[in-house]
Amino acid sequence: MHDEKTQRAIEAGFAKMGLEKARRHAFLCTGPECCAREEGLASWEALKAACKATGAEALRSKADCLRICAGGPWLVVYPEGTWYGEATPERVERIVREHVVGGVSVAEWAAKTRPLCG
Ligand code: FES
Repeated sequence: MHDEKTQRAIEAGFAKMGLEKARRHAFLCTGPECCAREEGLASWEALKAACKATGAEALRSKADCLRICAGGPWLVVYPEGTWYGEATPERVERIVREHVVGGVSVAEWAAKTRPLCG
C-alpha cells in the first residue's frame, strides 16, 4: 500500500506516540469558541506536563473543536468517554492523576459519560 520509506515513517509515528502501551486517549479542545485560545493552550500545556510527570500511558490530542463550543476548555477521556468542561490547568492535573492514570473518573467535573464500544 505505502512505499517502504512511508511505511517506516508510519511505524515510527506509532512508536513515538506510544500506541502499543496506551491505555487511554485524551482529547482537549483549545478553543476558540468554548474558551479563549490562550486558556485552551494553557490547559494543553498542563495536560502534556501532567502526562509526563505521572508517566501516563496515554495518547493525547489537541483538538480545535469538539462541537460543544461553550463552557470549555473541553477534555474527553476514552475509553470511558468522560467529558469534562472547564478543564482548567488545575483540573487537568487532577483528571490526569485520578482518571487518565488512576482509572477513576472525576465525577464532580464530568458533564457527560458516554463510552464508545462499537
Ligand atoms: S471550540 Fe471548543 S468545543 Fe468548539
